[in-house]
Amino acid sequence: MKANRNLPLDQFIELALYDKVNGYYMKKNPFGKEGDFITAPNITRLFSEIIAIWVVTFWKSIGSPKTFNLLEFGSGNGEMMKVIIETLKNFPECFLNCNFQIHEKSELLKKKQQLSLKSEKITWIKDIKKNNSFPTIFLANEFFDALPIKQFFKKKEVWFERFVDLKAEKKAEFKEEPVDIKDIEHDVNFEISKDQEIIEYSPGSFEYLKHICNLIKKNDGGILIIDYGYLQFKMHETLQAVKNHKHTNILEDIGDSDITYNINFNLFKTFVDQFGDLNSMICNQKKFLTSMGIVQRAEIISENIPFTKKSDLFYRIRRLIDEKQMGELFKVMLIKKKKNKFKTGFEID
Ligand SMILES: C[S@@+](CC[C@H](N)C(=O)[O-])C[C@H]1O[C@@H](n2cnc3c(N)ncnc32)[C@H](O)[C@@H]1O
Repeated sequence: MKANRNLPLDQFIELALYDKVNGYYMKKNPFGKEGDFITAPNITRLFSEIIAIWVVTFWKSIGSPKTFNLLEFGSGNGEMMKVIIETLKNFPECFLNCNFQIHEKSELLKKKQQLSLKSEKITWIKDIKKNNSFPTIFLANEFFDALPIKQFFKKKEVWFERFVDLKAEKKAEFKEEPVDIKDIEHDVNFEISKDQEIIEYSPGSFEYLKHICNLIKKNDGGILIIDYGYLQFKMHETLQAVKNHKHTNILEDIGDSDITYNINFNLFKTFVDQFGDLNSMICNQKKFLTSMGIVQRAEIISENIPFTKKSDLFYRIRRLIDEKQMGELFKVMLIKKKKNKFKTGFEID
């Protein structure tokens, strides 16, 4: 990584995570016990089975189209797509109509995905705007939290943007520079600073959401987003780095730790509301998975397995749905056409 550079936070994160040579996601497989973190599909395959069942019901809600795309953003080690395909084979009327697609930035992870999914027919899509015009069901599990963010802090009515000064190798420092917040609001197309003291957002997320919303409007479909995040209107600072399953300093181990943040889903909702004929629904992961029947499914599976396996399975399920663990930390958001009244997984208790 080159020294003597003062970069806005998002450009620094882009370099740290996605630099072609030294970027975190470009040079290592971060998943699992040996890696730095574990994601829901790698905790238990039941998570992906539930997503597959949800896909079938949503596909029916858009009129069971004869051809449709199931496009996953940032597939990591490919585990979720693998289990979804296996599960959908039990629903041939849906499976046989489906183009399976992945949009992945890391060449290293793409190779992993190709290896793990080699017996399946998958297309890797570079530019989602250049895809075919069939309805698309998009899936994004821990994708948006991996996109670089900008941060702004208001001090005595003046907004400052956070920069990273890469003075010298291994000697990075945070800096702040005054900024005209109107320029940022012009870019995002709404008053993002209204009643906020801190702004934390990912320009890349808004870029993706814009294209996804336009594609849903044009071709029908929807997107299911599952990610770390919160619903409150007021934004706060959530930037963090993770290495070996522990929090670490963002400015140390650059390129060797994952950098992530908690999504403000209220912000995503405000963004989507700009697209008149679309709407969104949000709930926590516990509600989504339990109302989709993950516990009942685990009970059926565990009828004929030894006690140790059964307790391991329920330990894993608890990790996903416990409110002190991923059950509340993670939110699930669906963006779809307003005229589609589908709400499976999001029903009020
Ligand atoms: C935190 S991992 C989640 C992986 C997987 N979805 C899971 O749940 O295990 C983020 C994934 O998004 C990919 N990614 C990040 N930015 C991307 C981008 N702009 N386009 C496509 N993939 C991206 C990363 O390479 C990685 O595969």
